[in-house]
Amino acid sequence: MKHVKPLNFSTSRRSFLRTGLAGPGAVGLLAGALPSAAFADNSPTRGDIDILRFLAAAEIIETDLWQQYNELGGIQDSEVPGGSGNPQYTKALKKLDGDMDQYIHDNTEDELTHFTFINAYLVSKGADPVNLDQFRILPSSTATGAQQIKRLTNLMQLTVDTTWWTRYRSRTKNPDFGDTFPPAIPGLLQGQFPAIPRSNHDLTPTRHIQAIANTAAFHFATIEQGGTSLYPALAQRVTNLEVLRILLSIGPTETAHFQTWHDKAGNIVPLTDPTNGLVFPDLNKSPFGGEDFQTNLIMPEPTVFLSGTLPVCSIIRPTATEGAAMAALKALTDDGLFIGQSQGFFTTLHDLATAADAAQREF
Ligand SMILES: [Fe+2]
Ligand SMILES: [Fe+2]
Repeated sequence: MKHVKPLNFSTSRRSFLRTGLAGPGAVGLLAGALPSAAFADNSPTRGDIDILRFLAAAEIIETDLWQQYNELGGIQDSEVPGGSGNPQYTKALKKLDGDMDQYIHDNTEDELTHFTFINAYLVSKGADPVNLDQFRILPSSTATGAQQIKRLTNLMQLTVDTTWWTRYRSRTKNPDFGDTFPPAIPGLLQGQFPAIPRSNHDLTPTRHIQAIANTAAFHFATIEQGGTSLYPALAQRVTNLEVLRILLSIGPTETAHFQTWHDKAGNIVPLTDPTNGLVFPDLNKSPFGGEDFQTNLIMPEPTVFLSGTLPVCSIIRPTATEGAAMAALKALTDDGLFIGQSQGFFTTLHDLATAADAAQREF
C-alpha cells in the first residue's frame, strides 16, 4: 500500500489547515483519526474521467486539422503518414521559416500521441475512450498532396480570431478579468478564408497562396494558444494526482507549440489577397506597431494576475476554470472549424464539454 502515505499526508494537511492546527504532531494525530477507507482508492474520479474524455475529443479534433496541414505543407514520412505534399503551399509556408514543414509535422505527430495516450489511459482505468469516427463527413481539399478521405474539421472557411496576439502583449489587461483585445489581423474576422488550398485553383496567383499560408500561420497559433489555456484551466478541477500529472505534462507541450507559432506568425508576408481583398498588414508599422503589435514581442508580457493588488506576472491567460471546456468548444466553432458538421457532432461535443465543466476537485 505504498500509495497510502502521500494520500494520508495530503489529506491530513488539508485537515489541519482547516482546523487551524499545525506541526508534525498535528499531522500524525489527524491522519490517524481519519478512516482508512479515505485512502483505499486512488483511481480517477468520475470528474477526472469526464475531463480526460473532453481532452481526448479536443485532441482528436486537433489531430484531424493538423493532419490536413501536414498532408499539404508538412514533411511526409511514416511518423505522420497519409499525404504527399503540395510544393506551392509548402513554399509559401517556408517564406515564414525554412523549417515550417518540420514544425507542422512535429505538431501533427504530437497531437496524434496526445489523443492516443489519453484514450489508452482511459481504457486502462476501465473508462470509455472517445471515438469521433462517425463524424468524419467533411470533404478533403482536392489540391495535389491531400488524401481523399472524410474529415472532422473544415480548414477552408475559417474566421480566425487573432486577439491572442494583443492579449499576450498587454501589460495591464487579462481575459480572466473580463478584458477584451483587438485582433492582430482584423480582416481574418471579417469573412471566411481558406487556410489550405481548397483545390489546385488556389495555388495561383502567388499572393493568393501566400495569403492562404499567412492565414494558416495565424490559425496554427490560434489553435495552440487555446490548448495552452485549456489544460491549466481544467487541471484545477482534477482530483487524482496521476490525472493531474497527465494534464500538467501534455498542457505545456501545447504551449511549446504556441510559442513556436507565435514567432512564425510574426514572419508573415504583408500583402493583400488579390482574389478576396484579405489584408495582412505590416504589424510593425502604423496604425499597428508599438508594444501591442511589435512582431518580436513573442514572450508573454507580464500582466495583472489574480488580484490588482498583486504585482504583474508573466503568465498563460486565460486560466479561469469556470466553463473552460465549453469556451474552448465555442472558440473552435466560432473559428468556422466545424462548418458543415452534423447536429450529432455538436451534441456529442456539447455533452463532453458539459461533463468536463461539471467536474469538481474532490477533497
Ligand atoms: Fe494536443
Ligand atoms: Fe495542440
